[in-house]
Amino acid sequence: MNVLVTAGPTHEAIDPVRFIANRSSGKMGFALAEAFVAHGHAVTLISGPVCLSPPVGLAAFAGVVSSDEMFDAVHTHIAKMDLAILCAAVADFKIARAETQKIKKAGREKLTLELISTRDILASLKNISSSLRVVGFAAETENFVENAREKLSRKGCEAIVLNDVNRTDAGFASDDNEVTVIFREGPQIRLPRASKRQIAAQLVGIFANRHKM
Ligand code: PMT
Repeated sequence: MNVLVTAGPTHEAIDPVRFIANRSSGKMGFALAEAFVAHGHAVTLISGPVCLSPPVGLAAFAGVVSSDEMFDAVHTHIAKMDLAILCAAVADFKIARAETQKIKKAGREKLTLELISTRDILASLKNISSSLRVVGFAAETENFVENAREKLSRKGCEAIVLNDVNRTDAGFASDDNEVTVIFREGPQIRLPRASKRQIAAQLVGIFANRHKM
């Protein structure tokens, strides 16, 4: 299979030296890419800024910074993909107009930034092709299954991998994770806490097998 994986955070520029980001380390996405490679798949990994080396054996790697760059990179590669797994923590908002020069602090008591919605990469894959399978991740802090199911339906993917990101022993930046795979139709599969590599191997088993069905 040709598999596309996204990983890491995005950085949304405020000015040339400041940005809005999130706590994603890229570990989960990189582990997924590595696991798909280990199972003989042709993997394209698109990652935001992280401190990890790309796994050996990728078909392609694209390092991006912003949500707009990630959107473009995904759409550059998507045509030949069989499966896309969007694990990246893409910013939901970006600065309406990033400054071209560093914003000066002198004389300011307050600074108000106008944020606008970013483009939703996962939702944009909804009608790309009937042969493309799309899986999202959901990072939630409350009403876990309900919120994940709402995303699954709104973003139009086949399944969503739910993370509780309140936890310090799983989710963002941890070496471990614990997730629930929720299919639009069919079972809900809980994968108990394990290393991200082990979780990734289980996800490959779930999605590669389902692909053959
Ligand atoms: O990177 P790690 O430190 O290892 O942490 C892993 C993780 C917690 C980041 C990962 O397991 C995870 O949960 N990734 C999803 C993070 C996220 O942004 O979730 P969300 O619920 O905000 O977004 C839902 C889905 O929409 C995701 O597939 C996301 O990639 C996608 N999205 C979101 C916004 C946007 N503009 N475009 C998108 O495609």
